[in-house]
Amino acid sequence: MDIREVGVVGLGTMGAGIAEVFARAGLRVTAVEADAGTLSAGVSLLDRSLRKLVSRGRLTQDEYAEIAGRVRPGPAIATLSGADLVIEVVPEQLAVKRAVISELDQVLRPSAIIATNTSSLSVTSIAAGSAHPGRVPGMHFFNPAPVMRLVEVVTTVLTEPATAAAVTALATRLGKTPVLVNDRAGFVANALLLPYLNHAARLFETKHATRDDIDLAVTAGIGLPMGPLALLDLIGLDTSVAILEVLAREFGGTRYAPAPLLRRLTDAGRTGRKSGAGFYEYSEERPGGPARPPDEDHADLSPVPGTVTLIDPPAGAGAGPHSDRAAELASQIAAAGISVTRNPAHATELVIVAIGPEGGVLGPATAAGRAADAVGLHLPVPGLGSGTAGQSPGLAELVRSPLTSDRALAAAGALVARLGMRVVRSADRPGLLVGALLFAHLRDAIAMVADGYTTPEGVDTAMTLGCGYPRGPMRLLADAGPQEAVRVLGAMHRGYGDPAFAPPPLLRDYAAGGQPVPGGTGT
Ligand SMILES: NC(=O)c1ccc[n+]([C@@H]2O[C@H](COP(=O)([O-])OP(=O)(O)OC[C@H]3O[C@@H](n4cnc5c(N)ncnc54)[C@H](O)[C@@H]3O)[C@@H](O)[C@H]2O)c1
Repeated sequence: MDIREVGVVGLGTMGAGIAEVFARAGLRVTAVEADAGTLSAGVSLLDRSLRKLVSRGRLTQDEYAEIAGRVRPGPAIATLSGADLVIEVVPEQLAVKRAVISELDQVLRPSAIIATNTSSLSVTSIAAGSAHPGRVPGMHFFNPAPVMRLVEVVTTVLTEPATAAAVTALATRLGKTPVLVNDRAGFVANALLLPYLNHAARLFETKHATRDDIDLAVTAGIGLPMGPLALLDLIGLDTSVAILEVLAREFGGTRYAPAPLLRRLTDAGRTGRKSGAGFYEYSEERPGGPARPPDEDHADLSPVPGTVTLIDPPAGAGAGPHSDRAAELASQIAAAGISVTRNPAHATELVIVAIGPEGGVLGPATAAGRAADAVGLHLPVPGLGSGTAGQSPGLAELVRSPLTSDRALAAAGALVARLGMRVVRSADRPGLLVGALLFAHLRDAIAMVADGYTTPEGVDTAMTLGCGYPRGPMRLLADAGPQEAVRVLGAMHRGYGDPAFAPPPLLRDYAAGGQPVPGGTGT
């Protein structure tokens, strides 16, 4: 099917961007809005975006004129009668979308495609309201549409194969990467992103870690470009709650039920950047970022201890890798010019318990008679953090027990700073901080693959191109090691009793070496 003439209904945030993408790919675009006022506002939005490209040298004046000339404002839906494809980008309300589609049914040729850009409504419900439901697929662009390369092409049980093929080919022609999925809440990207963000909000709410430590754990510990609480502020807490509610209705379970704090902040009007405050405050002077500086750096003013006692994890609390880490830590500390004793009876001011991701500081600290001086130290999945291997400063998790003194925690912060590592503090809970966030997220991705909903490549393409991940979840799993994933998830499942953390059979297969973890398409 040859698509030359397209229509865009709704020229708001997404519609203006989508119209720009079409026009830049050489298609003739007719843009329709609710009324003359919103139409001219939408056209100016598009125009501003093109002019920005000219001012940045990305478009010449002639190219600008040519692209802008391909966009025709249409005063009413009737002006779309010649279109081969129309995409509706009106607000996320089923009734509004259905009304637009039935109007389009009246004016379009029966062979024309009516695509929907819905993020969370059922494409099937939208299509079912059309006279030609076989020609109503989802074409889900990401914000900002001219920049983000992912398009989720959503088919329903009613979609004609030729329609899916035409929309997939069109997405490629637009310079995007299509991922073909069935109609299921959240498709791939939102269904993976939102429960992970929700989990981060819940960790903050339950005082697992501070706001800044949660965000730092993700950027420095996993290498994602933005922390989850900052990202919730960017997406909008109200929008996030709305998408989570849709996911919760479809899938149930603790991963999707919105964290109470998300609702409280929304009720309080703290919906994120757009309202000036969410998890962070955004001042007018610094609209791009948090107004308050991050938490005080945990490097602290405490002097670096001259001698440190290092306690191995108790036998049985972890196999080989556990004690390897303790030995590695001992040599790192020694290399930084700090003496290490393994004898808990030595009167040092700081006792480091080289815990695994299961946690458990209090037991060994009490057994050694040093509960007040003991701090757990865990180096989570090395090599995932920002920077390439070897350049990354590494991240350490410091874990206090209920009996750990402030003085010991400060001394441990100074020690870790001397080792040249970043530090986050975590409650002593299974998975600790980086592992809890990372592996629960990867588990959702593995479950989606195991369900047959998408492929490992689909997961990684969606998250790299739709959410800006430097590497997709399957690639992260391959790099972190599926055995580590089973270990951390197993600890979380035992600790919380929540089936949402149970290692799925496919992960156990990967861990047992029965089949390799597909590397995915992470860049
Ligand atoms: N904002 C995002 O990040 C994002 C990302 C992906 C998908 N989406 C989806 O895109 C759609 C639009 O979202 P948005 O953020 O661009 O919303 P928006 O409010 O910025 O834009 C919607 C536009 O539709 C216009 N409109 C309303 N009724 C209309 C009608 N009957 N006929 C023509 N135009 C009409 C409005 O005037 C407005 O300009 C939603 O379905 C949303 O879920 C949004």
